[in-house]
Amino acid sequence: MDSATLLFFLLMISSLCLGQSVNNLFRLKCQPAVGVIGQTTNIICDMEAETVPIVNTVVITKIGETEPCFTFNRRDDLVIGDPRFQHKNVPSLQLENTMISDEGDYSYFIRTSHGKEDIRFTINVTAKYHEPVISSKQKELVSGGAADLYCNASGGYPAGTINWFDGSKTNWTKNAVLQITPGDDGLFTLSSKLNFKSFDPIWGDFQCIVLNSKYQEEGRSNSNLQIIGTLDNPRDPGNDSMMKNIVAATVVIGSLIVGLLIALLLKRRRFQQLRRTSAVPFLRDNEPEPVYSEEENALNEPFYKKAAEADQNIEV
Ligand SMILES: *[C@@H]1O[C@H](CO)[C@@H](O)[C@H](O)[C@H]1NC(C)=O
Ligand SMILES: *[C@@H]1O[C@H](CO)[C@@H](O)[C@H](O)[C@H]1NC(C)=O
Ligand SMILES: *[C@@H]1O[C@H](CO)[C@@H](O)[C@H](O)[C@H]1NC(C)=O
Repeated sequence: MDSATLLFFLLMISSLCLGQSVNNLFRLKCQPAVGVIGQTTNIICDMEAETVPIVNTVVITKIGETEPCFTFNRRDDLVIGDPRFQHKNVPSLQLENTMISDEGDYSYFIRTSHGKEDIRFTINVTAKYHEPVISSKQKELVSGGAADLYCNASGGYPAGTINWFDGSKTNWTKNAVLQITPGDDGLFTLSSKLNFKSFDPIWGDFQCIVLNSKYQEEGRSNSNLQIIGTLDNPRDPGNDSMMKNIVAATVVIGSLIVGLLIALLLKRRRFQQLRRTSAVPFLRDNEPEPVYSEEENALNEPFYKKAAEADQNIEV
């Protein structure tokens, strides 16, 4: 191949490329649309062009279906198809009252004053799960006994998952079995079962967390389990609290008795002291009574008298 032929080919290729870009003076682009069930979904599209083209025709068809779901023709001012589609800001569209069945890939055909384009875009649909509810198969949970905990969350889309944690934030999810059930309305119910052969109250309050399909949290719930008795004594819920009551009563009565004894003792000591202060103010209990001279006794006589009077007034 000589250089002349090469040049010829290059010219041909470049003219082909040029021809195509002349044919299409704009580009249509649509962002992937994510809608919420029951709400309006924005399908945001725009045209990249030097000057804004005039839209003449729009035809939207869901991939896999033969009939378009939306057709707009400017010349006849004609709109056909699903009335939930709004076209106030073409090429952007709005889809009212979004449904699960709207999810999927779509073809978007557009004809404008600057040419035509046929692109694809997707609509994804979501619905938030209701608050999860924790329940247990057993009517009464027994320490050391079997336990089947359920965490159920309904009304969500797409399918999500459930994680379990105990009171000290230990991840129990690996031990759980998740069941995903679609309802008649297409929305999912998640049911996660955490099964224990021997339940230990030391684990504390269990918590389940509902995550959507993107692993974002959508809700959580605490088990607030009531654990009744032990395996040997399952039907004796009062056992523990009764014991506590007995202990409390013993403490109260005991301290009352001790208090009374101390009061009595103090009273007795005061009388004894009163009798002795006259002679030796700081006489201890088991010290022998000191011997006093006549003069000392005479000096102390008035105090003895007083003590004796006090003794007479006491009724024991
Ligand atoms: C839309 O959903 C499909 C599956 O139905 C998924 O593959 C895709 O990643 C989703 N797109 C967005 C934007 O969420
Ligand atoms: C949760 O789901 C399980 C399994 O589907 C079911 O047995 C249980 O009754 C459900 N619990 C509640 C509170 O709905
Ligand atoms: C808990 O365990 C599950 C399953 O092993 C895992 O997918 C999840 O990321 C864990 N969560 C945390 C917070 O560690």
